[in-house]
Amino acid sequence: MSAAVEESSRSLAPALERIRADVDAFLDTLLAVPPDPRARLYEAMRYAAMGGGKRLRPLLVVAACGLFHTDRRRALRVGAAVELVHVYSLIHDDLPAMDDDDLRRGKPTLHRAYDEATAILAGDSLHALAFEVLADEATHEDPFVRTELVVELAGAAGPAGMAGGQMMDLAAGESPLDLAAVTRLQQLKTGALIGFCLEAGAIMGRVPPEGRTKLRGYARDVGLAFQIADDLLDEEGAEEKTGKKVGKDRERGKQTFVSLLGRERARQQADLLIDQALTYLERFGAEADLLRAIARFAVERDH
Ligand code: IPE
Ligand code: IPE
Ligand code: MG
Ligand code: MG
Ligand code: MG
Repeated sequence: MSAAVEESSRSLAPALERIRADVDAFLDTLLAVPPDPRARLYEAMRYAAMGGGKRLRPLLVVAACGLFHTDRRRALRVGAAVELVHVYSLIHDDLPAMDDDDLRRGKPTLHRAYDEATAILAGDSLHALAFEVLADEATHEDPFVRTELVVELAGAAGPAGMAGGQMMDLAAGESPLDLAAVTRLQQLKTGALIGFCLEAGAIMGRVPPEGRTKLRGYARDVGLAFQIADDLLDEEGAEEKTGKKVGKDRERGKQTFVSLLGRERARQQADLLIDQALTYLERFGAEADLLRAIARFAVERDH
């Protein structure tokens, strides 16, 4: 590890620790188990959503909101909302009809621990709850701000975002893609939700769309680099660290930067994207240090 990387991971560790605790506390309340036949559904949601994951998306929201001095409790609600959508996407991604995975966040996937029907319903429920959280007055007093958050998250999660990218990912098993097509696939399946995190900071900070160009540039590059790092970890990572099975992408014929370029060039590409992402933050001062540290972590991580 270089001195710069070591320095940034040191400063990031307490922020990751804090966001983990905050997100878990929020979910503990949101997902309180009712004393009726829905208990199993709530327990399944808790199993998938609590006590695991890097919580990188909530941290990105808090870091972006931090640029504009947004109240942390409100930023946390928005961060929790995007995490709820993310967890739902992971539950469905792991289903036999999709990636058919047995291990997630270091434990059996939800459909293995429970059953497929419960996993589908838990995903559906987390998805719906995300929008309920955003639309609540506690997230922002201005209904226009809340509406913009809802519209942006819906766009990032739906057919023009995550779900669309997942469709391309599945279809890619049938026909070969070039680098431009894989880039688009990755930008949709992973980049769109990461893009929402930065956009949400600007929305909460009441930055007009024309003032969001640099944050969008940062988000685009970090989002793509983050998925390249995920694909590299599938190829060369360790199951004990990633908490999921490795070597699955090659086995399933997934098309990624790694399958198209090889490990070395894929890593170079990810590093280049992070250098570029950091240039978008040049005009910011120390208030953007957390975003800088997250960008480096996105590609240096081992989990
Ligand atoms: C995994 O996301 C799926 C991708 C979109 C690459 P993360 O690597 O953020 O997974 P968790 O939340 O830490 O489990
Ligand atoms: C999934 O990408 C992205 C999602 C939208 C969930 P992957 O299928 O590569 O994610 P992992 O490796 O299973 O976490
Ligand atoms: Mg997948
Ligand atoms: Mg998967
Ligand atoms: Mg993967």
